[in-house]
Amino acid sequence: MTDSNRIIIFDTTLRDGEQSPGASMNTAEKVRIATQLERLGVDVIEAGFPAASQGDLEAVRTIAEKVRGLSVAALARTSKQDIDKAWEAVRDAARPRIHTFLATSDIHMEHKLHMTREQVIEAVVEAVSYARTFTDDVEFSAEDASRSDRDFLCRVFEAAVEAGATTVNVPDTVGYILPHEFGDLIRYLQENTSNLHKAVLSVHCHNDQGLATANTLAGLEAGARQIEVTVNGIGERAGNTSLEEVVMTLHNHRASLNLFTGVETREIYPTSRLVSTITGIVIQPNKAVVGANAFAHEAGIHQDGVLKNRLTYEIMEPETVGISQNRLVLGKHSGRHAFRDKLAALGYELEEEQFNHLFQKFKDLADKRKEILDEDIEVLYAEEILRAPDFYRLEYLNVVSGTQLVPTAMVKLAMDGVEMQSAGFGNGPIDAAYNTIAKMTGTRSKLMRFSISSASGGTDALGEVTVRLKENGFVALGKGADPDIITASAKAYVNGLNRLEYLKRNPSLSPEERGL
Ligand code: KIV
Ligand code: ZN
Repeated sequence: MTDSNRIIIFDTTLRDGEQSPGASMNTAEKVRIATQLERLGVDVIEAGFPAASQGDLEAVRTIAEKVRGLSVAALARTSKQDIDKAWEAVRDAARPRIHTFLATSDIHMEHKLHMTREQVIEAVVEAVSYARTFTDDVEFSAEDASRSDRDFLCRVFEAAVEAGATTVNVPDTVGYILPHEFGDLIRYLQENTSNLHKAVLSVHCHNDQGLATANTLAGLEAGARQIEVTVNGIGERAGNTSLEEVVMTLHNHRASLNLFTGVETREIYPTSRLVSTITGIVIQPNKAVVGANAFAHEAGIHQDGVLKNRLTYEIMEPETVGISQNRLVLGKHSGRHAFRDKLAALGYELEEEQFNHLFQKFKDLADKRKEILDEDIEVLYAEEILRAPDFYRLEYLNVVSGTQLVPTAMVKLAMDGVEMQSAGFGNGPIDAAYNTIAKMTGTRSKLMRFSISSASGGTDALGEVTVRLKENGFVALGKGADPDIITASAKAYVNGLNRLEYLKRNPSLSPEERGL
C-alpha cells in the first residue's frame, strides 16, 4: 500500500447529517459524537455551518478546541462574512479547514443564484483566495456538480485549485447520477483539468436513489481520494453515503481494490449506536453493517451453514465492526465486575458515577427479568447518557385502558423534591399519561418526535422510547426504557422535561454548558 491508496474519510455527520429532519443536536451532544469520531479514526470532521447560527458557530468552536487528533472543517458559502465566521469557529483547531461551496449547474446558477458562469468562477476564486489568507487547508465544493456542464466544471476546478484550494469536492447533491456515469465524470475531470493533480479529489453523494454507496465506490475506483460520509447514512432527505458501508466494503475487498482507510472498524458499531441515541434516529433493522439483523441468520439452511462454518453465509465477522459476540448473558447474580466487562466488550466507557447508576438500573431490570441481553444493556446505556438532573421524578404510574374504557392515568411525581399526585384522560394510555404529566408540571412542550422500539424479540423485551420536545425555543431529547412500554414512554417524557427544565433554569450558561 502507498499513500496514494490511502482514502481520506471526511465525516459530515455533524453538518449534512444534522440536516436530517429532527436531528438537531446541542453542543455537548456534538462534542460527544466528535470525540467518538476521533476514536473511530476519521481524518476530517465537518463540525457545522457557522454562518447558520451563533449556536452552530459556538458548537464548531468548542469541537475545534476539544477534539485535537483530526482536522476540523467548517462550511461556508462564498461570501466573506461566511468565511470569516467559519474561520472564527475553526481557528483554534489543531488542523483547521475552511470548506466553501457554490453551485455550478445551470439550473442552480440560473434559478437560485442568478449568476452567470463567469460570475461563479469569479466568486469561487475570490472565496478560495480569501480563505487561503487564514489557512492552507481549503476545500471547494461545486454544489450540484453531477448535473453541471462537464467542461464548465473543469474550468471551475482549475480556477479553484489555481486560487489555492487543496481539496476539490464533487457532490451528487440531489442523488441523481448512476454509478458508471459518476465514475466517468471523475475520470473526465482528472483528464481535462490541467492542475487537478495538485489537489485532493473528493466525492460527496446523496442517497435519493439508494445509490450513494455505489456512487462513492465508483468515484474511488476512478481516482477520488477523499469521501464525504455520515454515520448511519443520516443526512438531508434520503441521507448521505453511509460511512460504515463504504469503509467495510473497502475493508472486505482490500485485496482487490487495494485501498485503505485509517478507520478502526471495531469502533463502527459503538459510533453508530451513539449517533442513533443522540439524534433519536432509529436504525432500520436491515441496515447494512449496523442494523439489528445485519448478522442474524433466520433461515434453517443458513443457520445450519453458519454453525458448520461462519464463512458459508457471513462475509465479515460482527466483531470486526465492534458487535460483541461474547453473548455471555447476565442475570440477577451478575456482579459489578461482570457488568463492567460486558460494558467494555460493548465498547462503552462511563465515569464511575454513571457506571454506578447504570449498574443499579441493570439490577432493577434483573429483578424483573431472568436474562439480560446485550441489546438490553445498550438501551439502558442510551438512557443513562441522556440522564439529566431530576427536577421531576416519576414515582408512580397507573394507567387503565381497554376497549370499553376512557384511557386514564394516575401519576405521582416528585417535583423539586415535593410529591404531587394527579389523574387525567387521553386518547390512549400514553396520551393520558402525557396529558397528566404536562398538567402537573405546567409545561407546554410540543412533542416533535415520538418513537418506540424493542431492544430484543419477545413480549417481555425492554421497550425503548425516544421523544423530542420543544418549548420556548429550547429543544431536548428524552429517552426511557422499561419492559412496560407505557412506563418507558412516561420515563422518556419526564427525561425530556428534565432536560428542558435544565435549559430553562440556566439561560445564562454557554451553549456547551446548556447541553446536557
Ligand atoms: O450536497 C451538497 O452539495 C453539499 C455541499 C455543501 C458539499 O452538502
Ligand atoms: Zn450534501
